[in-house]
Amino acid sequence: MSGADAVGVGMIGLGTVGGGVAQLLREHAELYAKRCGRRVELRAVVVRNTEKARSSGLIDAALVGNDSTRLQQDDIDVVVEVAGGVDSAYALVADALRAGKHVVTANKALLAAHGPELFGLAREHGASVAFEASCGGGIPCVTGLTFGLMSNAVRGLYGILNGTCNYILTEMTQKGRTYAEALADAKAKGYAEADETLDVSGADAAQKLAVLASLAFGVSVVGDDVSCEGIDNLDLADVRFGAELGYDIKLIAAAECSAEGDGLFLSTRPCFVSADTQLGQVHGADNALSVVGDAVGHVMLYGPGAGRGPTASAVVSDVLNVAAGWYPQAFAAMGLTPDLHAPADKRDSADTVSRFYLRLEVKDVPGNFGRITTTLGEHGISLSAVMQHERKHAGDAFVPVVVTTHACRQGDLRAASAELKRLDAVAGTPVVIRVLDAGG
Ligand code: NDP
Ligand code: HSE
Repeated sequence: MSGADAVGVGMIGLGTVGGGVAQLLREHAELYAKRCGRRVELRAVVVRNTEKARSSGLIDAALVGNDSTRLQQDDIDVVVEVAGGVDSAYALVADALRAGKHVVTANKALLAAHGPELFGLAREHGASVAFEASCGGGIPCVTGLTFGLMSNAVRGLYGILNGTCNYILTEMTQKGRTYAEALADAKAKGYAEADETLDVSGADAAQKLAVLASLAFGVSVVGDDVSCEGIDNLDLADVRFGAELGYDIKLIAAAECSAEGDGLFLSTRPCFVSADTQLGQVHGADNALSVVGDAVGHVMLYGPGAGRGPTASAVVSDVLNVAAGWYPQAFAAMGLTPDLHAPADKRDSADTVSRFYLRLEVKDVPGNFGRITTTLGEHGISLSAVMQHERKHAGDAFVPVVVTTHACRQGDLRAASAELKRLDAVAGTPVVIRVLDAGG
């Protein structure tokens, strides 16, 4: 810190999150001064479009500029990065760290791509990087996982980590809205990324999982380590069949220890969860992180996962923890961040053991049902439920057959699906969706 009485904050970005940060620092100035023992002052805001920021009414126009070297001056102690993106954010954050400034960021894309490098740079220059807002919006999941649950060897993480996707799925299933309508609404409410394909493709949740899994398992995980599938290719028919069986569809980010305990399965994909489980009851833009620890058992952290207020809450808490002085000490003293760890030993998802939902379009003639169950049985797959509806129209040659399995190896199910696909009795490619029991 500069040693002055007040702590100087410089911020990059004044959009959904930055606007909320500016508002909190202004409205709670006295409260924060009491909590930190020092005033916390926003002294500079760097954006690209200065006119837009100056006329926004969110901050004193005199603070706005587009010269990022302003953030390296002596009166700035903490740089808040709420601009987003990877390359430009990387350059700005790295410059701030080289200048010895502490950094607070909400940018999971940046951390998933360059986290270890930036944490290392911070150590080199006596600075720290705080990143609570990067995962789970307003939920203190980074703090909870690293400090509150520090005593545990973590066995699994199961998260609903993208507010936009959860909002879209909730609106579609509970209110009958279309995907396009729900997505447009999520954008208008400030939940979505500037490029919303990051949300719906599952990439944003995968980036958050990389950040959280690094902390939880003491390894270095990057976004590309996570096998990723989004909600953009979901077929509404499967959502409806799942609902008939008592399941809700959720985009689940999962990091699970292998049976031997030395490898990790990392995935983000739509999964069915029982509607009456904790994860099944996370709706709208809310997020949740379910942590399975060896001592504590199962803990679920839950709350608003996106939007101005919740995200600004997390960013400003980081700023205050830095201003109060304890976060930089913890950052320097504890071996939590991925720059200090070896890359994760990723395991092929073929070895994941789980229950699954399988939908096949089956020719509606005698004997076909038997062929399907025989094929599954030959691959060691035992069925938990089977469902077939009558033809919708007299001329329909194929009808959907839905089965749920008991726990089986995903690799065995894949092999069975490939064999089923080759049968004349089956049209198209079988749909496979994981049914999540653990941690929910
Ligand atoms: P917005 O698009 O609303 O705002 C981005 C702001 O950053 C704008 O003011 C923009 O200025 C500025 N900006 C962008 N690039 C640069 C740059 N290279 N240099 C200077 N300023 C720049 O984004 P959000 O506020 O929604 O998100 C910001 C970050 O927070 C992202 O990393 C996002 O992933 C993360 N986040 C967002 C959440 C949310 O609910 N929205 C939740 C959790 C995290 P200009 O208008 O001049 O281009
Ligand atoms: N676009 C992100 C989401 C913002 O919808 O979850 C919060 O990180």
